Amino acid sequence: MNQQEVINEIRRKVDIVDIIGERIPLVARGKNYFGVCPFHEDTHPSMSVSREKQIYTCFSCHATGNVFTFLENYEHMEFREVLKMLADKVGVELKGLSYHKKENPYEEWYQIYELANKYYQNNLQSAMGKDARAYLHQRKIDEEVIKEFEIGLSLDKKKDLTDLLVKKKVPISLLNTLGLSTNGVDIYNDRIMFPLYDLTGKCIGFSGRIYENKEENKYINTKETPIFKKGTLLYHYHIAKEESRIKKQVIIMEGFMDVIRASTIGYRNTIALMGTALTKEHIASIKRLSNQVLLCLDGDRAGKKATLTCGEMLEEAGLVVKVISLKDDDDPDTFILKYGKDRFDGLVQNALYFRDYKIQLLKEGVNFRSDEEKTNYIHSVLKETAKMKDPIRIEITLKNLAKTCEIGYNTLEKRFQEIQDEKQTQKITHHSLEIKAPKKKDKYQKAEDAILSAMVDANWTIDEVEKEHIVFQDLESRMLQSEIMYYYRKYKEVTFADLYTYLEEKPNLLLRLSKLGSNTSFQKITKQELYDYFRVMREYNKSQEIKRLERKMSTEQDPKVQAQIGLEIVKLRRGEKEW
Ligand code: UTP
Ligand code: MN
Repeated sequence: MNQQEVINEIRRKVDIVDIIGERIPLVARGKNYFGVCPFHEDTHPSMSVSREKQIYTCFSCHATGNVFTFLENYEHMEFREVLKMLADKVGVELKGLSYHKKENPYEEWYQIYELANKYYQNNLQSAMGKDARAYLHQRKIDEEVIKEFEIGLSLDKKKDLTDLLVKKKVPISLLNTLGLSTNGVDIYNDRIMFPLYDLTGKCIGFSGRIYENKEENKYINTKETPIFKKGTLLYHYHIAKEESRIKKQVIIMEGFMDVIRASTIGYRNTIALMGTALTKEHIASIKRLSNQVLLCLDGDRAGKKATLTCGEMLEEAGLVVKVISLKDDDDPDTFILKYGKDRFDGLVQNALYFRDYKIQLLKEGVNFRSDEEKTNYIHSVLKETAKMKDPIRIEITLKNLAKTCEIGYNTLEKRFQEIQDEKQTQKITHHSLEIKAPKKKDKYQKAEDAILSAMVDANWTIDEVEKEHIVFQDLESRMLQSEIMYYYRKYKEVTFADLYTYLEEKPNLLLRLSKLGSNTSFQKITKQELYDYFRVMREYNKSQEIKRLERKMSTEQDPKVQAQIGLEIVKLRRGEKEW
């Protein structure tokens, strides 16, 4: 068996519905299964999984693929690892198969960062790292932690790292790209170096901290590259992944020092935003860890503000959000240092639900003797309460509010219902705006899509396409057509699920394919329908050819040739010449 055959066999032996169903709840509806898509923030079941086609498709974020791509993305695994895992599961032997995942184009980059990482760590352990070590020890970061988080030191020698890497044949230009040097000089000089990791745990850059009172930026981060994007990075994610699943909660902090400190008292289910705003990509990644999030940001104003915005975003994404609110000049790091593990455990246990936290904030500074302030307060609390889902929590909140404001429960409840109803109508009108009829697709384009789709969905159509010499105008369609034919000839069968892996290295074709695969408007095709589409194609091709000839005729000088072209056009129009 060759590589493709082994891959096919493994894929055929597993059922994508089982594999996805083990990870996210799926509900059967008609022929397909539906669940909440793990690849974007959502609360609605927008992902469909087809047992028949063995593919998944999200109607919202357009994520689509087969069982391999699902696991690669969901588990952050390499294709090889996924293949191995599934092969073990279904008892297929991979040995002897020289399967090489196509070279990761950034493999070299990872190696260079890893070299720099090792170099920095050695520096810290050398005699030159004495002061930096003293600084870390004074901050209660002991040797064990230094080792675990691979903390290092850049030297004050201007170009030692650059020289070292150039000696290893790394081009200067690449070092610039990687954010390690600029014009042959090191970027990092005399800073404590914290490696930054991508979601799978590979070093993809650094954050360098000053450690003696210097008038410089506290931290310098490696610049963004294709493998390091702040909007997707979450520090410590690869470790928190396991831990959050066990603890059923993930804790979000602001800085990596907070995460490092928390890990020393046993909290490894922590990640850090690294001082940037929470993005949709972050949220999608966080959702893969747990559906309960504990926000534990800095106690200062900025931290409180971020708690509010992050809390809203995370709740909107369907996560259960709790909040720990620290005192003004504390961050998790300093809190744990000052008060110890037990007090921090207490904070975690007594964390407030995000809505309760917000309601508590609303109360601050309200003068309950002023009727106006009191009324405003009541309305804002009701608005927050309307965002709660649990009826028990809603009732408790309303009862408390009635007590604090000395208002009858029934009055509050009535007003609360009104707010709920208003929200409902808004939702409906908003929704009906969204589902406007889709733009009518060009007839020809539709025929092209339908034929290509049919070729994969109902393989008998491939022979018809070949027999009838159907030619696609669009280059990409033509390329996809020939890939489908090639695959079919070679393996006697072709499916969407097969092609998702087979075309992995041709992103443009893959994109085209996934659009076809996720289009549910194509039903199983009949021969009559197929030939109707052929006719549309021919007519279009003919009209294109006529246009081409007309252009040619208008630039032609020789009247004889002109006449010849004219005749051809007439023939085409009359249908005497086939297209
Ligand atoms: P903080 O200023 O809260 O850092 O910034 P910290 O964790 O308390 O660090 P220490 O205790 O002073 O050492 C939070 C995060 O914001 C980013 C870093 O990623 C940091 O972890 N940051 C902060 C920067 O990128 N640059 C800066 O100059 C400051
Ligand atoms: Mn700090």
